[in-house]
Amino acid sequence: MNPFTDDTLRALARQHGTPLWVYDAATIRQRIADLRAFDTIRYAQKANSNTHLLRLMRAEGVVVDAVSRGEILRALAAGYSADDAPCGASGIVFTADLFDAATLATVVEHRVPVNAGSIDMLHQLGAASPGHKVWLRINPGFGHGHSNKTNTGGEHSKHGIWHAQLDAALAAVRQHGLQLVGLHMHIGSGVDYGHLQQVCQAMVDLVKRADCDLQAISAGGGLSIPYREGDARINTTHYFSLWNTARQAVATHLGHGVHLEIEPGRYLVAESGVLLTEVRATKPMGDNRFTLVDAGFSDLMRPSMYGAYHAMSLIAQDGTPRATVDTVVAGPLCESGDVFTQGDGGVVQRRALPEARVGDLLVLHDAGAYGASMSSNYNSRPLAAEVLVDGGQARLIRRRQSFGELLALEVV
Ligand code: LLP
Repeated sequence: MNPFTDDTLRALARQHGTPLWVYDAATIRQRIADLRAFDTIRYAQKANSNTHLLRLMRAEGVVVDAVSRGEILRALAAGYSADDAPCGASGIVFTADLFDAATLATVVEHRVPVNAGSIDMLHQLGAASPGHKVWLRINPGFGHGHSNKTNTGGEHSKHGIWHAQLDAALAAVRQHGLQLVGLHMHIGSGVDYGHLQQVCQAMVDLVKRADCDLQAISAGGGLSIPYREGDARINTTHYFSLWNTARQAVATHLGHGVHLEIEPGRYLVAESGVLLTEVRATKPMGDNRFTLVDAGFSDLMRPSMYGAYHAMSLIAQDGTPRATVDTVVAGPLCESGDVFTQGDGGVVQRRALPEARVGDLLVLHDAGAYGASMSSNYNSRPLAAEVLVDGGQARLIRRRQSFGELLALEVV
């Protein structure tokens, strides 16, 4: 989806240049509203960790997940603290499968609860900070994702504590006097929902097997969005109701109420954002027609990395109607895989789009999640600027990186 009018995007491109990320606050608020039935919405900020978006989340009562020291520091910069406790949940939770020394020190200093994906983490945390709050992230032995690269369950995944090791993990928790908050499962990203019942059942079975008490369970993230026209939007009422049933089974087993968290990244921000690019060249290559734009996989990596599909639209600079043509859309990088229209395995595909001319704007839709946050400086290209539109007001929330900033780290 593209929440913006052509006129808005034309004006922003004129003012800030391209490539440009543009986000719509109202869409983010709408997606948050879809999930209000959960006790806690914990935003997986890896999807987009701009501090202005984190502040928006905080104002809406959404707490955050952090997966690195940098993400913890971003959450703190946005005003979160580990003690922020809307609905009794910690403002920040750190989720990982390992600690480096600096991250462990930061977690301890700011008393950030840890969602541990390995027993080694429990020993290291326990030694540094006895009594620290922990969640256990459990790999239930199966997973799903929109690509193999986003499947986080099963024995081929590095994520989480293997389900059969739950007792050993609980022993480590007890050994160090760590305070167990809850069990967490995130089995993949961009998931279809055929198996949701199976995931909920796995959580209930885990709790019944575990010799421990819990305050909370986390459903993880993974909720998909309709990237393609015709994709169904997930039914969040149904999604909640399956997890709520699991929560009730857990509560009955434990004999007290249990808090239910959800941890989406993509669902909250993907549809709010577009990547605005300018067409800089068009050329035939045998039977293919290439449309070359000024953003590449250094900006939006998802098509090259996963064969991910992003809908596109064209804003003709002169507003004239254009015939529809099949075209390959590619970027400026000196690498053949820098193509926005490709399938899994890197097979270049054609897309039916209005015939582009140099100077037109090409809009890549649904780019608010895993867009800017996965950008790189490949080919020495500076990071693009980001704009947030809220209530008719457009605000620059990250300026374009300068070449001087790129070089600065090498001046030693
Ligand atoms: N919780 C945990 C522990 C995670 O590892 C992830 C995503 C999430 C929550 C949020 O998942 P979401 O709701 O956004 O699907 N770069 C890939 C996605 C990788 C996701 C990694 N972990 C993409 O562009 O599709």
